[in-house]
Amino acid sequence: MNAPTARRAPGPPAHLGLRNLAGFTRDQLGLLRRIADTYGDVARVELLGQSYYLVSHPDDIEAVLVKHARIMRRDRHSVVLERMLGKGLLTNEGEAWKRQRKLMAQAFMPRKIQSYGAAMARVTDAGLRAWRDGATINLHQEMSRLTMEVVADVLFGSSLTPADTEQVRASMETVNEFLANSPEAMTMLPACVPTPRNRRVNAAVAAIDALVYRIIARRRADEPRDDLLGTLLAAQDDDGARMSDGQLRDEAMTLFLAGHETTALALAHTLYLLSTHPEVARRLHAEVTAVVGDRLPTADDARALPYAERVIRESMRLFPPAWTTGREPTEDVDVGGYRIPKGSQILASQWVVHRDARWFPNPEGFDPDRWAGDRAKAIPRYAYFPFGGGPRVCIGNHFATLEATLMLAVIVARWRVDLLAGQRLALKPSVTLRQAGEGLRVRLTAASR
Ligand code: HEM
Repeated sequence: MNAPTARRAPGPPAHLGLRNLAGFTRDQLGLLRRIADTYGDVARVELLGQSYYLVSHPDDIEAVLVKHARIMRRDRHSVVLERMLGKGLLTNEGEAWKRQRKLMAQAFMPRKIQSYGAAMARVTDAGLRAWRDGATINLHQEMSRLTMEVVADVLFGSSLTPADTEQVRASMETVNEFLANSPEAMTMLPACVPTPRNRRVNAAVAAIDALVYRIIARRRADEPRDDLLGTLLAAQDDDGARMSDGQLRDEAMTLFLAGHETTALALAHTLYLLSTHPEVARRLHAEVTAVVGDRLPTADDARALPYAERVIRESMRLFPPAWTTGREPTEDVDVGGYRIPKGSQILASQWVVHRDARWFPNPEGFDPDRWAGDRAKAIPRYAYFPFGGGPRVCIGNHFATLEATLMLAVIVARWRVDLLAGQRLALKPSVTLRQAGEGLRVRLTAASR
């Protein structure tokens, strides 16, 4: 695995560690970009005694995520998530992760995902009834509300009352705020330290816990059902063993968190881009009305909406909801001709690579047609990796793609969104790539059919 010629990767001198940290907290996206531009495809940064390697060539990203997957753990920062998710799929490792991945895959088979399509469109349609012609909305908040309702419905179906959904929404809001803005999350402060924020987030997690355990108990007592939770309750490993209540709780929480915030951001960014590119919005509206007309879109329709698919794909290129994917090698490993020592933190940044002019001419431009025909074929496989890659690739990637396509179709068939005057997009990279501050506001106009 290690070539004798492997060298030490270039990077800013180690004594700049503190300055790097200051730069990083001020402008994380800009700093990553500058490091890649200055030091190349494998760059080393020393921060507070820890070596980070920014890997930015598609072939090297493939090596980290796929070829060397056997000797890669998730990066150290994912432990913050354990407070909420316990040992769910996102935070688990080793044999326990492998077993869970196999069990969970049963709920994400293509046939299952197709069957969730009806709920995705129905819940979005119901969620849009609160929208009024001429009203203004906060894009991120509204998309978060809708994706939350979709995931809650697909995961738990009719097991949730409206009051339960509200409870989950409020608790998830607290968790998202904690992950996005808190020094407690950044410094990985233990949950038992009684800061006000820690207390709030512990209470929010306890509230969802109580709800999830109650639903699990009720569902175990009821007739089996074929929804997502039903599939997880019934899933058996090779020895015939099923998941314990504790494991089911961790997985349900993981699907809630991983499943709603990322898709909400993908949609919020897409609607922002449509508001600033009216010609793309018109073409998309024309495609959706031609294919779907006045009814609700189905999972089968999603295949007949290629332009919608390209719009979402291009939006996640420019604004990848997951803006870095991290790994920690458990052995020394050579990547792109450089030695990366065991215990280092490897970062592959979707933000950096998706805007690399070597793979994406006019990288800052919003051009959905770059994903059509021969132009798409010229893009290297790992120049675009919004869902990560290799054995730990997002298990919800097909779910998310279907969900985003159906939700977008329901929205653009009925509404046009226009950015309010004076609004400019600013980004806040936290666990996900969010809109900064209060987020963007748009005005709603009923679309002509
Ligand atoms: C646009 C939406 C989404 C994006 C951009 C996204 C992105 C990602 C990324 C980058 C990873 C990490 C991959 C890695 O470390 O290599 C991941 C993992 C994961 N995602 Fe997603 N995701 C999305 C939607 C979803 C949805 C809808 C669900 C579930 C319903 C989901 C569930 C998960 C889970 C459980 C994992 C952990 C997988 C594992 O480690 O085995 N995600 N996602």
